[in-house]
Amino acid sequence: MSTTYWQKRMEIPGRVSFSEGNGDMPRIEIKTPHSTGEIYLNGATVTHFQRNGEPPILFLSQFSRWAAGQPIRGGVPICFPWFGAQEGAPQHGFARTTSWDLKEITQTADGGVSVRLGLPESADASLYPPFTADYVVTFGKQLTLELLIKNTSADQDFSFENCLHTYFTVGDINAISLTGLKGASFLDKVDNLSRKVETSQNLKINQETDRIYVDTASTVEIHDSKLQRRIVVEKEGSQSTVVWNPWVAKAQQMPDFGNEEYPNMVCVESGNVSDNRLVLPAGKTAMLKVVIDSLPL
Ligand code: BG6
Repeated sequence: MSTTYWQKRMEIPGRVSFSEGNGDMPRIEIKTPHSTGEIYLNGATVTHFQRNGEPPILFLSQFSRWAAGQPIRGGVPICFPWFGAQEGAPQHGFARTTSWDLKEITQTADGGVSVRLGLPESADASLYPPFTADYVVTFGKQLTLELLIKNTSADQDFSFENCLHTYFTVGDINAISLTGLKGASFLDKVDNLSRKVETSQNLKINQETDRIYVDTASTVEIHDSKLQRRIVVEKEGSQSTVVWNPWVAKAQQMPDFGNEEYPNMVCVESGNVSDNRLVLPAGKTAMLKVVIDSLPL
């Protein structure tokens, strides 16, 4: 689909414009009275969200690959219909590397902009019971992400994992703490998936961290004393929270991530993975909603 074709259909002067972004991939740029944002059709990846007068809320690697069919390193990749590794298939599912269809752009009462995308039919999707996946992203004072999976089959359950893999900008990983996870069980991916219980009220990150917290619907806050703000990650329809920072050695192994970038990011991801995998009955819709806000410390 060419940019010109979209422009004619959906551009909103001063609010929504279309361009060829990095790697010449189709990109939608959003400007609202409160914020700026960007979304690529590749993986329906939101790559930018910044409130006026504040540093960006989302982290985007300077070393990301920018090629159709490759995941973007940063922003909000979508993990679906599986999370993590799956034998013979790409990590985190095909949704994050598929080019999504742009369905609709609307304005909200306070000048925000909602973009609705849909996952197209594909050979990968046809291996599952029939379903639709829609993604509605609203840029405004907050960033609101809604992933809607509908099982359209007549009589089959649809079993899947989903996760909005949000990368956040932080001033210094050594100067942040996370609240909202105390008491939750987690699978520790850097310790052979051992099952543990979070004991910290203010979780600090000072080494490679890769944890799947299960059975938790709590809001997580990232307290950032360097940027003097807290990022609030509120969620609905999500029982799992993943916390990830690759730290030094893993960062060095990742070709699409800078060796020096790990201190400036943390992933706090919301979804339903591992123990919380969903089984969606025929005709039902699963909504995964994340609202991202920031407040001064
Ligand atoms: C996290 C996983 O969600 O994503 C980690 O828990 C993984 O294990 C990370 O390393 C990044 O994955 P990828 O496929 O983008 O390199």
